[in-house]
Amino acid sequence: ARITLRQLLDHAAEHEYGLPAFNINNMEQGLAIMEAADAVNSPVIIQASRGARNYANDIMLAKMIDALVDIYPHIPVCMHQDHGNGPATCATAIQYGFTSVMMDGSLMEDAKTPASYEYNVEVTRKVVQMAHSCGVSVEGELGVLGSLETGMGEAEDGHGFEGKLSHDELLTDPDQAVDFVAQTGVDALAIAMGTSHGAYKFTRKPDGDVLAMNVIEEIHRRLPNTHLVMHGSSSVPQDLQDIINQYGGEMPQTWGVPVEEIQRGIKHGVRKINVDTDNRMAITGAIRKLLVEKPGEFDPRAYLKPAKEAMRKVCQARFVEFGSAGHA
Ligand code: G3H
Ligand code: 13P
Ligand code: NA
Ligand code: ZN
Repeated sequence: ARITLRQLLDHAAEHEYGLPAFNINNMEQGLAIMEAADAVNSPVIIQASRGARNYANDIMLAKMIDALVDIYPHIPVCMHQDHGNGPATCATAIQYGFTSVMMDGSLMEDAKTPASYEYNVEVTRKVVQMAHSCGVSVEGELGVLGSLETGMGEAEDGHGFEGKLSHDELLTDPDQAVDFVAQTGVDALAIAMGTSHGAYKFTRKPDGDVLAMNVIEEIHRRLPNTHLVMHGSSSVPQDLQDIINQYGGEMPQTWGVPVEEIQRGIKHGVRKINVDTDNRMAITGAIRKLLVEKPGEFDPRAYLKPAKEAMRKVCQARFVEFGSAGHA
């Protein structure tokens, strides 16, 4: 059944667990998420970026979600717009049956220019008014995602901003978070504390200097009833890097967000954890392996089936690690 983000995260808070939010672009990813959820009895957050909506087509995506809900009627599913860049994107997501939207007002509508605090409050409040009148939840974002190692802020297209950002700009300010939640009425708040999207988050295993989990703890102290969201939270597991490189890929050594740090966040109000890169890597590794081992193969099912299976394993592990398993 379909459920809103608010309903899911309220339950998660009550029972002190976190929910991974996995990105979808195609049928195989949708089936992988649902097979994993079914195996461990977890509720589900599926999210689609603007890029995913363009790639798959809105109608295809909407009907795919209908199908997944029909195939697994006993699993609660929240369909969420990832990184909505303005009210129009959020409104059309609602029209296509999404039960939750992210209004990412940390950036301007071009999704690459950092926005003022006033703009963020204004646009997020507007989306909350609209979405809530339709029974849809809203995630806001305060603070710019980016690396505390390099000072590079991150625009949606994966390119860094011109010029370096200071530590303060890359970390959500707890006072501002209190004001932002009061002024906008968001159901969940994404915060910046040193993570970034994609595989290249850290050049070494992150410690407190580059992954500021203390910011989460402080914000949770100040906003104990606000559901916190961690973006850029793939763990970039070594075994997935190795399999890609073993079968002809070229990924330089990199580090993601360790699962134990996410588990620490979950103890301090983190309820939604966004994971896409790990699934992309699992899929790519499996396809590379199959095509290297069976160079004569040309039936797409021969490589998409192991790809789906590799993603299912990642999803299932996160449901268990974040504690949502058993809560469907
Ligand atoms: O926001 C980042 C997610 O990994 C989605 O990425 O915009 O390339 O679909 P995307
Ligand atoms: P990763 O790139 O770490 O998987 O983050 C995904 C994300 O935050 C989507 O919004
Ligand atoms: Na999101
Ligand atoms: Zn994100």
